[in-house]
Amino acid sequence: MSTEEAPQNIPLGKPTAARMYDEALGGKDHFEVDRAANAKLYEVIGEKRVRSTARENRRFLGRAVRHLAQERGIRQFLDIGSGLPTASNTHQIAHKADPTARVVYVDIDPIVAVHGRALLADDNTRIVTADMRRPETILGNAEVMDFLDFSRPLAILFVAVFHFVTPAEDPSRIVAAFRERQAPGSYVAISHLTTDGMSEEEQGGWRAGFAGATVPLVLRSEPEIRALFTGYDLLDPGLVRPCDWHPEADEWPRTTSLFGGVGALA
Ligand SMILES: C[S@@+](CC[C@H](N)C(=O)[O-])C[C@H]1O[C@@H](n2cnc3c(N)ncnc32)[C@H](O)[C@@H]1O
Repeated sequence: MSTEEAPQNIPLGKPTAARMYDEALGGKDHFEVDRAANAKLYEVIGEKRVRSTARENRRFLGRAVRHLAQERGIRQFLDIGSGLPTASNTHQIAHKADPTARVVYVDIDPIVAVHGRALLADDNTRIVTADMRRPETILGNAEVMDFLDFSRPLAILFVAVFHFVTPAEDPSRIVAAFRERQAPGSYVAISHLTTDGMSEEEQGGWRAGFAGATVPLVLRSEPEIRALFTGYDLLDPGLVRPCDWHPEADEWPRTTSLFGGVGALA
């Protein structure tokens, strides 16, 4: 996309995570500033590895939603840090199980709502611009709370978003704020970039790539990511490389960049 085509409220001066991820997935909704930031990632980490990480993560999201909708009967999804619409979005997967399943997308980046409203128009889908670091802006949002029924089981997706939350912003506090509102029988899905299995050089490359972005990148160890599931019971196979979470026969790509898992609330 050229900057002349950008809607007015879109920040253009800095790369954003949503648009960088869109570029890494081969989408079209990004600008020169995002391509330049990704070029830095590709230079240090390797283009194939970065793109494979994005794809592996996206495939995990798809399988987690399918599992929750088809095997666990979940009919409500709150997809936080949802990113720009791409192929196989949460509502499309959920609607294959039940066209009346309700999905709310939340993202801090206003470009998601701008593109989403046009592409995801659907009676059973909503899109909200909010910052999950302030959970009350989501849990106190009438559009979200009128549409979703928190007294019934509901899945919250935090897929590839907690690495944009610093330790000072206290990720555990954020998960807890949502968990405390969920009914028994609810779920959480989380994936996260990790230091485990990543060289110092690659870790530095990820941080440098996001250094000028609207939000910094924080890599976490496996125990730190596991701690985000406090209060939930991890479903089999536990917290694993996303490609190993209920893999399909030909599961690809495989990286050691992330961990992912799904937790159940008893
Ligand atoms: C790497 S993308 C992941 C998109 C999608 N969840 C997926 O896994 O395919 C991360 C998204 O999180 C969003 N994000 C980052 N910080 C956020 C925050 N504090 N509140 C809400 N969204 C946030 C970014 O704008 C971006 O769209």
